[in-house]
Amino acid sequence: MSRFDLVVFGATGFTGKQAVIEVTRVAKKYGLTWAVAGRSEYKLQQLMQEVSKKTGEDHSNIKVIIADVSNEASLEEMCRQAAVVVNCCGPYRLYGEPVVRAAIHCRAHYVDVSGEPQFIETMQLEYDKAAQEAGVYVVSACGMDSIPNDLGVVYMEQQFDGTLNSVESYLTALVPPEYSAEARKGVVHYGTWESLVHSLANHNELSVLRKKLYPQRLPTFQPKLQSRGIHKRFDKWCVPFLGADASIVYRTQRHLHEAGHKRPVQFKPYVKIGSMAATIAAVFAGVLLYFMSLTSFTRKLLLDHPRIFSLGFVTKDGPTETVMNNTYYKFELFGEGWARGEDEGTKPNKKIAVKVSGLNPGYGATVSGLVYSAITILKEKDKMPATGGVMTTGVAFGKTDLIKHLYDNNMKFEVIDTDRSK
Ligand SMILES: NC(=O)c1ccc[n+]([C@@H]2O[C@H](COP(=O)([O-])OP(=O)(O)OC[C@H]3O[C@@H](n4cnc5c(N)ncnc54)[C@H](OP(=O)(O)O)[C@@H]3O)[C@@H](O)[C@H]2O)c1
Repeated sequence: MSRFDLVVFGATGFTGKQAVIEVTRVAKKYGLTWAVAGRSEYKLQQLMQEVSKKTGEDHSNIKVIIADVSNEASLEEMCRQAAVVVNCCGPYRLYGEPVVRAAIHCRAHYVDVSGEPQFIETMQLEYDKAAQEAGVYVVSACGMDSIPNDLGVVYMEQQFDGTLNSVESYLTALVPPEYSAEARKGVVHYGTWESLVHSLANHNELSVLRKKLYPQRLPTFQPKLQSRGIHKRFDKWCVPFLGADASIVYRTQRHLHEAGHKRPVQFKPYVKIGSMAATIAAVFAGVLLYFMSLTSFTRKLLLDHPRIFSLGFVTKDGPTETVMNNTYYKFELFGEGWARGEDEGTKPNKKIAVKVSGLNPGYGATVSGLVYSAITILKEKDKMPATGGVMTTGVAFGKTDLIKHLYDNNMKFEVIDTDRSK
């Protein structure tokens, strides 16, 4: 059976729908064949009608594949029809593993937008060898988690004439004041909240998992990059960013180091919050969220009342299109190291700053990252690691043109004034 280039699984979800719109936008340009998949034929048909109406493209010939996570045979039937499975069905800790397993079994490549380190690292531990043997690429975190930071560090190294020792990243996301009333209806869809709550609830799995994944610790590289904790910089209060990015960047850097390519870059991500009062509120909300995720009763409260416990950020309807399209994001990455030929035993003597920015981080840039990652697997395998495997975006796509494609598609990578790193 010939395969579709892309099959979007979980297409009926909030993110899945945006992915289908993105595939519609780029399919002709790249001559892609594609299909949608999910568990409800009715919902998939409705979705295709809605997307046709919205984009003006006739989708009556797009194949609808019925596949349910609880039915492994249906997943395999889907994967046998796909060159790349684009998986939007989360939380991934609940639904991801059978899809990865079926993709490897049926020799379909796999990309997703998971931001859940436990799921991502478990897939590496359990399926890397099988994926290598099958020649299949399994690449998670192809969205806002964690392309800007993971490929941001890779991009920075490519622009840095010398050896990079460390990178600190600062995320800013903002909705302009004129849209703030509409943003009160929510800026994040429930699926992300559900994934976050389950990740926090099972956070203690990570240390055991990491000991299995990496029995040997990396040696400490000097000067060691210390965490700044909660701190004020650039006139704003900033807090450590507790998403998947630190784990993803670490895995990329460790892989490249162990493959003998280079010294690993140390990395710490932060979020710029703003005022001290907002920072105290954010830290308080984060601590409350963490403790509430730990017991089943309070976890149920979080899952049943996302709007209340996220202080209005998360809703079951998700953000409106106006809010999504006008939400601005930027990651500012500040790197330090040594100019080419300088002694790495001395104090770092060279700096660089990189910005990764665009609009609609959660559902626009995310699906651009996802869909272009899939296209990169289709078009640029010759620039990817020779064998397949479970890998990060940095390892999979570091030598491809993905960063260039994303530059034109809502995720602009650029070197900025190095003075701003002070
Ligand atoms: N990294 C990032 O930057 C980023 C950004 C956005 C989203 N995400 C992640 O993307 C994931 C999805 O989020 P979302 O907001 O789009 O969630 P959502 O709207 O709830 O979508 C979930 C999708 O999974 C499908 N699904 C659930 N159970 C299934 C089953 N048993 N078999 C087949 N399909 C099933 C749903 O199908 P039905 O419609 O039939 O229920 C739906 O299509 C989350 O994990 C979220 O964290 C990540």
